[in-house]
Amino acid sequence: MRNLTHQQAQSFYDRFGAKQDAQSFYEDKAVNTLIQHADFEHAHTVLEFGCGTGRLAQRLLANNLPANATYRGLDISTTMVNLATERLQAYPARAQVSQTQGEIHLPFAENVFDRFVSAYVLDLLPEEEIRELLSEAHRVLNRSGILALASLSYGKTAFSKGVTGVWRTIHRINPKWVGGCRPVKLSDFIRDDCWNLLHHEIISQFGITSEVVVAEKVASQTT
Ligand SMILES: C[S@@+](CC[C@H](N)C(=O)[O-])C[C@H]1O[C@@H](n2cnc3c(N)ncnc32)[C@H](O)[C@@H]1O
Repeated sequence: MRNLTHQQAQSFYDRFGAKQDAQSFYEDKAVNTLIQHADFEHAHTVLEFGCGTGRLAQRLLANNLPANATYRGLDISTTMVNLATERLQAYPARAQVSQTQGEIHLPFAENVFDRFVSAYVLDLLPEEEIRELLSEAHRVLNRSGILALASLSYGKTAFSKGVTGVWRTIHRINPKWVGGCRPVKLSDFIRDDCWNLLHHEIISQFGITSEVVVAEKVASQTT
């Protein structure tokens, strides 16, 4: 399975920019579920990996997080970082978005965030980077911190299975035609010695299937 390199992902999303928000037609139901189960109302520090246009961040800051909670967003794309920064300008003291070079190592100390969120980004990464990112999420999360993920996944009904098959074929021919994203089974990457699964759901909208995983850090383990 070919994945986009970090450089290819950066240039794709630099060009794609605000069009990302049009993907909400199949992402919103899964993102709503993620928000519903990750208890953002009790979070004071949130890190989002691959924040895109800042749509989820704006929603969390406006509706879910306590008034003194802070948000950090990371993204590889200059266009996305600019869009998210502009979108979050109402929260200058609380929200900060930074550009990365796509590195999976998170530039933060251990045990500093209450939530680690990532929506439709792990499905872009090679499997070894998904494992590495989850290990990093575990490192930077506080004791009992919560991991909240959504990504493309595999359909369960005949129709959504068909859509999954078509999507995988397109990805195999040229991953850029689907933004580098392909269905992954997130739950396979959730080690039960590291995470206590709080919520797991497969959701299809218009035949496109998403997986939502919300899990609490098991503090005593090393990854
Ligand atoms: C499909 S978009 C999802 C954006 C946003 N999370 C959403 O749900 O609308 C993938 C995002 O991940 C970013 N991205 C891809 N690879 C990345 C990496 N290695 N590190 C950080 N961001 C990355 C892209 O620039 C893009 O903004």
